[in-house]
Amino acid sequence: MTDNLPLRGKVALVTGAARGIGRAYALRLAKRGADVAVVDFDLHSYKDYQLEAASMRGDTVVDEIREIGIRALGFQADVTDATTLNEAVQQIVGEWGRLDIAICNAGGGVGSPEETRASIVEKDLVDVVVARNLTGTIHTCQAVAVPMKEQRSGKIVTVGSQAGHRIEDNGGYAHYGAAKAAVAKYTQYLARDLGPFGVTVNCVAPGYISTGRLAPILSAMGDAQLLDDVPLGRYGTPEDCAGVIEFLSSDLSDYVTGAIIPVDGGLTYS
Ligand SMILES: NC(=O)c1ccc[n+]([C@@H]2O[C@H](COP(=O)([O-])OP(=O)(O)OC[C@H]3O[C@@H](n4cnc5c(N)ncnc54)[C@H](O)[C@@H]3O)[C@@H](O)[C@H]2O)c1
Repeated sequence: MTDNLPLRGKVALVTGAARGIGRAYALRLAKRGADVAVVDFDLHSYKDYQLEAASMRGDTVVDEIREIGIRALGFQADVTDATTLNEAVQQIVGEWGRLDIAICNAGGGVGSPEETRASIVEKDLVDVVVARNLTGTIHTCQAVAVPMKEQRSGKIVTVGSQAGHRIEDNGGYAHYGAAKAAVAKYTQYLARDLGPFGVTVNCVAPGYISTGRLAPILSAMGDAQLLDDVPLGRYGTPEDCAGVIEFLSSDLSDYVTGAIIPVDGGLTYS
């Protein structure tokens, strides 16, 4: 009989998992049997978006995971603060004895496409977006690398974006695209660094993924025009992304490292 819990006995950490795609990652890993620790600077961030709030089956994703009979921990922490993140990782290892999987998902952009054109985007916006996406990813990777090196095993997945590869027509969202391109490149350096320790490090690069936050933004930009560039002709879902995360978190991907995997319906490379 096929074991539907291939991650049973594994311990996972997912950042930015209070809503959106990160929540789908946390729930998917839990449904495959992993104990899951969630880090988010607001475990109730789903309340910002009605669609997100409507999909919740508990007060937080931590409660949702416990509801399916899986152990869960929640940390209200900012990934830009390395000290707090290190403490969270130490607590996870202290309570559960190990750390096998880390999904560095916390991130996102700030600002309008117009005000973030490459030639004019202001330093404040650049600093926030680089900290949230690149620095936060580096902090998370460095914190989890400590137990993973000791164990001589582990799976780290970072989150880039199609924006790290494609350039918007007007040169807008330059700070975000540059930060996500850096996340992808950092992933490859880390894969080289941690390969000898048996730790794989890969990056997923989502395309247009319909979440409570993004769905209205995509519609305002023009669904038909955006989807014209997507060979599969639809927006992605958090579940589409979670499938690839499941692969990269399981032994199916044991010989995959340093890869940047688009999850974008063909947007980037066709
Ligand atoms: N939605 C998309 O189409 C899309 C496309 C490409 C890449 N991505 C990337 O996927 C990831 C998730 O995207 P989403 O659309 O689900 O975002 P979202 O904004 O809906 O959710 C992000 C979550 O991360 C948390 N967070 C943000 N900054 C944090 C920080 N510094 N410390 C701790 N928690 C923090 C937020 O509170 C929120 O719960 C992000 O890295 C984003 O850049 C998303």
